[in-house]
Amino acid sequence: MVDLKQQYQKIKPEIDTAVFNVIESCAFINGPQVQSLAANLAAYNGSKNVIPCANGTDALQIAMMALDLQPGDEVITPSFTYIATTEVIALLKLTPVFVDVDPKTFCIDPAAIEKAITPKTKAIVPVHLYGQAANMEEIMKIAAANNLHVIEDNAQAIGCDYYFSDGNTKKTGVIGTIGTTSFFPSKNLGGYGDGGAIMTDDVELANTLKMVANHGQSKRYYHDMVGCNSRLDTIQAAVLDVKLKYLDDYINARRSVADHYDAAFANHPKIKIPFRAAYSRHVFHQYTLILEGVDRNKLHDYLAEHNIPSMIYYPVPAHRQKMFAHFNSSQLELPVTDWLTERVISLPMHTEMDEQQLNFITTKVLDFLKP
Ligand SMILES: Cc1ncc(COP(=O)(O)O)c(C=O)c1O
Repeated sequence: MVDLKQQYQKIKPEIDTAVFNVIESCAFINGPQVQSLAANLAAYNGSKNVIPCANGTDALQIAMMALDLQPGDEVITPSFTYIATTEVIALLKLTPVFVDVDPKTFCIDPAAIEKAITPKTKAIVPVHLYGQAANMEEIMKIAAANNLHVIEDNAQAIGCDYYFSDGNTKKTGVIGTIGTTSFFPSKNLGGYGDGGAIMTDDVELANTLKMVANHGQSKRYYHDMVGCNSRLDTIQAAVLDVKLKYLDDYINARRSVADHYDAAFANHPKIKIPFRAAYSRHVFHQYTLILEGVDRNKLHDYLAEHNIPSMIYYPVPAHRQKMFAHFNSSQLELPVTDWLTERVISLPMHTEMDEQQLNFITTKVLDFLKP
């Protein structure tokens, strides 16, 4: 699905030097590259504070811990997402309230959020799925009207621009109370191992987030609250600081791949190409089609026979996972989530795809769909 080797080859001298410098300095933990990445990412995103951490799942957990949510508080989340979004809610003994997504954007449906709000609701976690932003303008209005925190799970959409109706533009991840992201290697900004970050404009909250991520420590060996240990190691920060300079190029390359796929599939009766919401600029972490009247498993196998990978993100939505059985969540009616779960398929999407590969993939998909 990705070609990290070729991407590395193109920036090898810079990466090798950056990694070598860390090894030379032996500042493996909290070396200066960690702060450099935080500052550069803050400048790129237009956020006041970026707190690097060990991975995108920790980023979500730390965000929820810093907001001082209490056991039993309800957190509204889409079910159609990677499990990490919902898992940390339950891990912290909060109650995940799964709601449906918009059939076009695949992101949380603001109308469904409104319906799910109760006196126990404390937060909303929109996920900018596959690189497409959730409808943040509506979500922020609902949050303000109901005094709710918003934690944006921006693991799949770093670098995505959001256009507000008043003419303002912001990056996703810096619109809500807190934004979180993942630097998993295949992400749009991926490290050479695990990594993540948390961002917020609120200085006081940023201090709490830093404390939570560092054993609740206010000063060395003084621990004011229960926290955890979640650090981005210096080698990852050094790699990411190099790759951040190329993030916009990477996004443009992904968008070109999406354009190519769109052109091939646009008018096919059995394929719905990814919708591009006018309020944002899709960064295509994934290129995901909706298939109608197609045996998806057979298509997957047919592509695999031709050495073309394809993936189902995600074959089981969160509300149908066993881990949430005690919330009786499988009884919920989330028709759009179930409908999408049965129909989506993601094709290879990365920064190094060439025309020949793309033509090969589109030809094979269209061949399979021929009556
Ligand atoms: C939407 C979403 N949230 C959270 C995560 C968790 O990130 P990580 O794998 O770095 O813990 C991921 C990535 O895998 C993701 O795609």
